Amino acid sequence: MKNTRIPDETIRRLPLYLRGLQFFADQELTNVSSEKLADFLHISAALIRKDFCYFGDFGTRGVGYDVQTLVKQIREILKLSTPRKAILVGAGNLGRALLAYPGFAAYGFEIVAAYDSDPEKIGTKINQTLILDIKTLSKLKRDGIGLAIIAVPAEVAQSVADLIIKSGIRGILNFAPTYLSVPKRVKVISIDIAIELGRLPYYLESE
Ligand code: NAI
Repeated sequence: MKNTRIPDETIRRLPLYLRGLQFFADQELTNVSSEKLADFLHISAALIRKDFCYFGDFGTRGVGYDVQTLVKQIREILKLSTPRKAILVGAGNLGRALLAYPGFAAYGFEIVAAYDSDPEKIGTKINQTLILDIKTLSKLKRDGIGLAIIAVPAEVAQSVADLIIKSGIRGILNFAPTYLSVPKRVKVISIDIAIELGRLPYYLESE
């Protein structure tokens, strides 16, 4: 693997490549061309080739890329080879949907606990996950939990993030529509469906 810093834009596409490669692996294909992957993912083949060059995989002309090798390399780069435990904070409408989503397992993620502040929810289970009191959230790193998902109202998201960070967690996936201020050692990735929707009309043909 090349010892180059991989740009964030490329890192952002790697999970997408994994999904495409998994599709071809499921069809028992051993090799795939950048064109075939590009067609499947609706990304340009040149961009795929450029991204793959960052980790030194140039494929073989006429044969393409070895699917399993690529899957292994991408999983290593993304540090997905080790299963990861995550917690969810905010067991409301969104939290409930996330706890029911089976797709995390494909990337080796497991939501091992959920936290909430509502006494009515604490002690109940959603999809076999026990809802714990937010006040008991501490020293999660000690239990091998390195990631947290925030699905609380925006007004409390910062205080929840502070608690999460205090417990030793360094990776946060934030669904609350607000900016979180965190120390440099912590990585926050924010997801907002409204923002994605906001750019969708631009691509529509004029009505
Ligand atoms: P909800 O009101 O159904 O759930 C919020 C949950 O957080 C409740 O169970 C509440 O008891 C809990 N909570 C409140 N304060 C807390 C605290 N200090 N500590 C722990 N738990 C606390 O709201 P919903 O619809 O599930 O939305 C949750 C968040 O996700 C909101 O910020 C909403 O704007 C956002 N959202 C984001 C989307 C996205 O695409 N990023 C899509 C939908 C919602």
